[in-house]
Amino acid sequence: MPDLTGQCAIISGGLGDIGRAIALACAESGADVAMGDVLESGEATELVAAVRKTGRLARYDQVDVSDFATVKSWVAKVETELGTPSIVIPNAAVVQPGGFTGTTAERWQREIAINLNGAFHLAKAGVDRMLAEGIGGRVVFVGSWAAHAPHPHIPAYAASKAGLRMLMKCMAVELAGRGILVNEVAPGYVNAGLSGRHFQEDPVAAKKARGRVPVRQFIEPDEVARQVLHLCDPANRHTTGSTLLMDGGLSLTSAADQLR
Ligand SMILES: NC(=O)c1ccc[n+]([C@@H]2O[C@H](COP(=O)([O-])OP(=O)(O)OC[C@H]3O[C@@H](n4cnc5c(N)ncnc54)[C@H](O)[C@@H]3O)[C@@H](O)[C@H]2O)c1
Repeated sequence: MPDLTGQCAIISGGLGDIGRAIALACAESGADVAMGDVLESGEATELVAAVRKTGRLARYDQVDVSDFATVKSWVAKVETELGTPSIVIPNAAVVQPGGFTGTTAERWQREIAINLNGAFHLAKAGVDRMLAEGIGGRVVFVGSWAAHAPHPHIPAYAASKAGLRMLMKCMAVELAGRGILVNEVAPGYVNAGLSGRHFQEDPVAAKKARGRVPVRQFIEPDEVARQVLHLCDPANRHTTGSTLLMDGGLSLTSAADQLR
């Protein structure tokens, strides 16, 4: 595990399965941790306690990432209490299956507003503060393999993650000389969160999905967290503008497999 002592990490979608794993992994590596999510504060009690148990500071705020003013004021509150975040993890996302014909304008706008605009909002508010304080840091977006192969059943989600990837690359170029490295992890099927809930409801779909993964396994949330930490490691001085694709080979196989 990298040594993140003295740093502050800020994570959106912090109460989701992957967000929780990232929050705990950051704390176990020595960072103080700020978590934000659209869920009520009561939902965060257990996680905040678990982070504090590691000896680190923890803070939870109820935040809707689709609103920039809210995100900016969240970052300001975190900075006052925990210091300027130098590890920024835009992770919040939603998905609703339906295909192009089933995607209404409202559904499209919601997914883009949370998954893409929301990620931009946190990256923007966080990086602006790093630049103002003259500190370096890391931004790690939580993307998806859905940006790497057509996903006709979830076009808004796939487009939001493809947009995120290009935002990450543009930021990486602009910020490299300022000590801020920007990368993305892109998981395949995780045995939790967005796809995990679907797999629980539909074990037949889960079995088929597992069978499509060339390595024949789903990913656990703490495996995603470990890859995020790897990209936050202060010893990593050169990886920027990269996608750490961890999809077990899924995107190498035919997109048509998804429809079988
Ligand atoms: N689970 C998977 O298979 C998988 C695969 C690839 C990528 N991902 C990505 O991992 C990330 C985390 O997803 P997860 O699987 O843990 O799902 P999750 O649903 O468990 O977590 C997402 C969290 O985002 C929060 N959220 C939703 N709308 C929000 C808003 N407007 N503002 C703030 N927070 C909001 C939710 O309340 C939830 O806690 C997402 O970016 C997702 O795209 C997940």
